[in-house]
Amino acid sequence: MAGKPIPLEDTFGDILRKAMRGTHAGAAHVASAAGIDASAIASWIKDDGVPDEDQARAVARVLHLDPGKLADAALARWHPPVIALPDVRHHPQRPHPSNGYVFFIEGGRRAALVDPAGVPGNLLRVLRDGDFGLEYILVTHKHADHCDATADVASAFPAAKIVMHELDAHAIGSLASKALPVKDGDDLPFGDGVHIRMLHTPGHTDGSSSFVFRSTVFTGDTLFAASVGGAFGDASTYGDILNSVRSKIFSLPEDTVVMPGHGPPTTVALEKAHNPFFSD
Ligand SMILES: [Fe+2]
Repeated sequence: MAGKPIPLEDTFGDILRKAMRGTHAGAAHVASAAGIDASAIASWIKDDGVPDEDQARAVARVLHLDPGKLADAALARWHPPVIALPDVRHHPQRPHPSNGYVFFIEGGRRAALVDPAGVPGNLLRVLRDGDFGLEYILVTHKHADHCDATADVASAFPAAKIVMHELDAHAIGSLASKALPVKDGDDLPFGDGVHIRMLHTPGHTDGSSSFVFRSTVFTGDTLFAASVGGAFGDASTYGDILNSVRSKIFSLPEDTVVMPGHGPPTTVALEKAHNPFFSD
């Protein structure tokens, strides 16, 4: 059933700021290289106004973004269609602005939670209302809005296995020692003939991970509809996040549904066609 469209996570200003930071391009450089007044760039970063088509294309060329797709972002010309799947439930992680998901097989007898965060009572209600047999607690990365309820969920579901990349696992404290030691490409058994594949997708954080279940990938803050997460890694970089998306997410089948940590769902094909950080 189609619900209400979720707004895109990133504004034009967010995209501009991420690309400038990632490419170490200051406003003065972008302005002179694109032939635009520096004060306009400074305003757009703050979401005070947006460029016109030609200005957006000029900025994109300086920042190695896709000109047509960045112009679409500036002029709000694209939004993914509403996507809902029968074997994935979304819940807001209030008070955080992040997305949580439960996916399941066998009518919910086997289930996995993506990102235990927010008010624990909210999560436990989602899990109990669905009568889910929780087998996995999957954590995409170390930021609090994706993992601050890990201890509460783990104590309510002691048989559930925690899956989190070792480079980020310090964020869950002593539970880190209980997390499965996963690495890129590992398949976690999930019922008869079903697996959950863990992909190491560094860049937003060093241990950022995505999880593939059937034809859905949960990308955390690595890939959003029409944007990417900020590059906040200690060792990994803006280049790494772009490379993670290109090599690990965009190599999945085109019709793979992307369920991100923020903003609306999308698909691999739609992101290849509309995400300004990637050119064809
Ligand atoms: Fe994050």
